[in-house]
Amino acid sequence: MTEQAGKPFLYVVVCAAGIAADVGELITAAQQRDWEVGVIATPVAANGFFDTEAVGAQTGRPIRSAWRTPGDPRPFPPPDAVVAAPVTFNTVNKWAAGLADTLAVATLCEACGLGVPVAALPCVADALATHPAYRDSLVRLRGMGVRFGERYTGDPGEDGVRPEFGWERALDLLDRG
Ligand SMILES: Cc1cc2nc3c(=O)[nH]c(=O)nc-3n(C[C@H](O)[C@H](O)[C@H](O)COP(=O)(O)O)c2cc1C
Repeated sequence: MTEQAGKPFLYVVVCAAGIAADVGELITAAQQRDWEVGVIATPVAANGFFDTEAVGAQTGRPIRSAWRTPGDPRPFPPPDAVVAAPVTFNTVNKWAAGLADTLAVATLCEACGLGVPVAALPCVADALATHPAYRDSLVRLRGMGVRFGERYTGDPGEDGVRPEFGWERALDLLDRG
């Protein structure tokens, strides 16, 4: 797919959680809702957590993970909305603390200041979610206007089946107005 003028542009920030392997489902759903999509992955996520080639082919743009070289043009247009999915314990805490040491976290840190809708789907195990830093980070980010979906643990339900991640929740959160 090539650039499609006139469509709103969605940044999808992908972090290093196992469920990231299925992020293509989010891209498909976003494109069906008429978003043009650019993917920004954390360096860990880009290194084996999902098929960057396939997702790049899906969006028609290379996956971004490293900073551009000064003087190079910005590879993506400015975002009309930003989604972080899946977002990890690590990235939630860095985002809230303003530690913009990767392109992915810097993008998230900037997003609320741009005044565009920002949605996040955390994928964080129960044991990590009890950490006070995580709880504080959620409070801080919600205060900044970030719209959080329910935390996904990846644990199987009582039936032994792992629940669906529900990628479309991110798009529904953006639609909330
Ligand atoms: C197979 C695998 C699955 C992981 N799944 C998760 C996860 O679901 N949630 C999470 O917070 N961390 C998970 N981690 C740990 C993160 O990858 C690790 O904290 C990493 O530093 C996160 O980097 P990022 O936030 O920059 O993407 C997983 C690690 C591995 C090896």
